[in-house]
Amino acid sequence: MNENNFYITTPIYYVNDIPHIGHAYTTILADVLAQYHRLLGEKTFFLTGTDEHGQKVQRAAQQAGCTPLEHCDKFVVRFQDLWKRLGITNDDFIRTTQERHKTIVQKILQDFYDRDLIYSSTYKGWYCVPDERYFTEKDLVDGCCPDCHRPVEQLEEKSYFFKMGQYQDWLIDYIEQHPNFIMPENRRQETLGFLRSEKLGDLCISRPKARLSWGIELPFDTDYVTYVWFDALVNYISAVGYLADDAKFETWWPASYHLIGKDILRTHSVFWPTMLHAMGLPMPKTIFAHGWWLVGNTKMSKSLHNVVNPMDMIDKYGVDPFRYFLMAAMTLGQDASFTEKLFVERYNAELANDLGNLSSRVISMIKRNADGKIPAYSEPGDDEKELVDSTMTAVKEMAAAVQNMQLDRGLAIINNAVREGNRYFDKMKPWALAKAGDTAALGKVLRHTAECLRIVSGLLYPVMPSKMAELRKTLGLKEEDIVPSIDKLSIWKGLEDGAAVLDFTPLFPRVEPIKEEGDAADKDVKKDAAKPVNVITIDEVGKVQLKTAVVVSAEKVKDADKLLLLKIQIGDEQRQIVSGIAEYYKPEDLVGKTIIVIANLKPAILRGIESNGMLLAAKKGKTLRLVTTDGEIASGASVG
Ligand code: ME8
Ligand code: MG
Repeated sequence: MNENNFYITTPIYYVNDIPHIGHAYTTILADVLAQYHRLLGEKTFFLTGTDEHGQKVQRAAQQAGCTPLEHCDKFVVRFQDLWKRLGITNDDFIRTTQERHKTIVQKILQDFYDRDLIYSSTYKGWYCVPDERYFTEKDLVDGCCPDCHRPVEQLEEKSYFFKMGQYQDWLIDYIEQHPNFIMPENRRQETLGFLRSEKLGDLCISRPKARLSWGIELPFDTDYVTYVWFDALVNYISAVGYLADDAKFETWWPASYHLIGKDILRTHSVFWPTMLHAMGLPMPKTIFAHGWWLVGNTKMSKSLHNVVNPMDMIDKYGVDPFRYFLMAAMTLGQDASFTEKLFVERYNAELANDLGNLSSRVISMIKRNADGKIPAYSEPGDDEKELVDSTMTAVKEMAAAVQNMQLDRGLAIINNAVREGNRYFDKMKPWALAKAGDTAALGKVLRHTAECLRIVSGLLYPVMPSKMAELRKTLGLKEEDIVPSIDKLSIWKGLEDGAAVLDFTPLFPRVEPIKEEGDAADKDVKKDAAKPVNVITIDEVGKVQLKTAVVVSAEKVKDADKLLLLKIQIGDEQRQIVSGIAEYYKPEDLVGKTIIVIANLKPAILRGIESNGMLLAAKKGKTLRLVTTDGEIASGASVG
């Protein structure tokens, strides 16, 4: 690969999941890095996609009564639409169900098999069916799956294994000799620690079709499909032409970065390198594991109902501020906290007050006091020294921050330059110069702050492409200069004398600060707790039969805005219920959910449709949330 080419990947996300802020984060980070590398003049390839095989998809499709592929086709759109909305500039989107991917996985498997890198053997041990994972006796916690705590099954079956264990010493050596291979350092140490302390076993790469059929068939045994991780990791090379398009593959491999979250470190730092080594391919330059977005201090999880939906945030505050917040508020490698309050605070301080304010001041004064044209250039003097210095420092530091994966630091330095712009403006008092009719001095102040804005808007372009394009157009830059390039950002004089400044609407209007998070809710809880309660006996409780149910399908009820018709499965029985939750849930978001219903409620007719049961939901103010279970459990289970 040409040393100057830049190839970056995100994990391929499970197609079945609803995209949340974590997925959005990794993809935005990859996008920002890709856009910076383009700005630096490098040839760039940015890949994302979806992971579409496995038990969860098979099961969800079964429940929805469609084929697994139909299910994937329907759900992949949620990711693709979100990436469009977020302005993601990926060069390709790979789906593991595509032929171009499946054939390559099979070629690799056949080659490994032919070279005795794959063998069959009897597997004896424990298996967690819902997680599709094998465990040894010592992995189990109280006899259950260490991850999901559900009961495991004992298995004895023929399986195929990839001879991963033989590469243990090679891998330790490779990681030791390549300090940038796994980043940050603590993740590198974590991997080394694991590899040095345990014997690396061989990797089971098959699942019997009898248990799981939704996968890529093993080319040498059609009774089996490929283990999803062996299939998924290959996307990073199948997408760039491995065994299909040599020129393309040569151009892009090895990847510059595999960006991942810390949850999938081991598959990337152990499975993937050994697979690549067995193929005789060079290693990716860096596997970078970022930290976790927490909500406040809590892990995001479906069961806590605190999952942040990126769509909600961008509907409310716009795409670019959201991208900015995620990049500025996370130190790469560490966990970070997301709350709307933190978001709004940073938005008002850094975007509305600093950058938004500087833009408004400069542009409105050029409009009002300089005939709407960029004033003629004059060399910066002593007064301008700090402004020029801090702006040019930002150019250098941002490039360094991108190389060192310290985007939050780079953004803080850019922000310094913006603040220096505001300080310079205050110090020079251009409004007084205008009043005194000192056109030359006024022009100088406006021109230099406008140059600062040109450079800053270029540096921020990869993070906020649409707002910064707007600002750059407003500053009278030509069409071909809207997308910035490093050479033009490295010189101070870049605007054109007399270029017309366009009409301007404030880029980042201030938003209402959020009051202490949790305050209002806490007070309500106390108030509720103080209310007298109606005491009931255990017999009365026993009259209500609560059961778990899985939503099989959901649709809107014609001519009734608030009602949804749900088909639900309670154990062996299918039923339908009509529920007034249409304002809170989209029908497609309900399918597959495990909910709680009152199973022995007398049937009722609502809008001419029979409703046979009632679902439980919590409601407060304008928020409604379905009551669900904390983890998976079969439908028809009694609740009490
Ligand atoms: O693991 N904070 O897919 P996945 C930050 N299909 N990032 C987060 C996050 C959070 N709270 N939650 C998720 C898979 N992510 C496999 C990958 S790759 C060959 C196969 C991000 O849908 C983060 O990038 O579970 C994490 O690694 C990824 O989503 C997991 O996505
Ligand atoms: Mg996951």
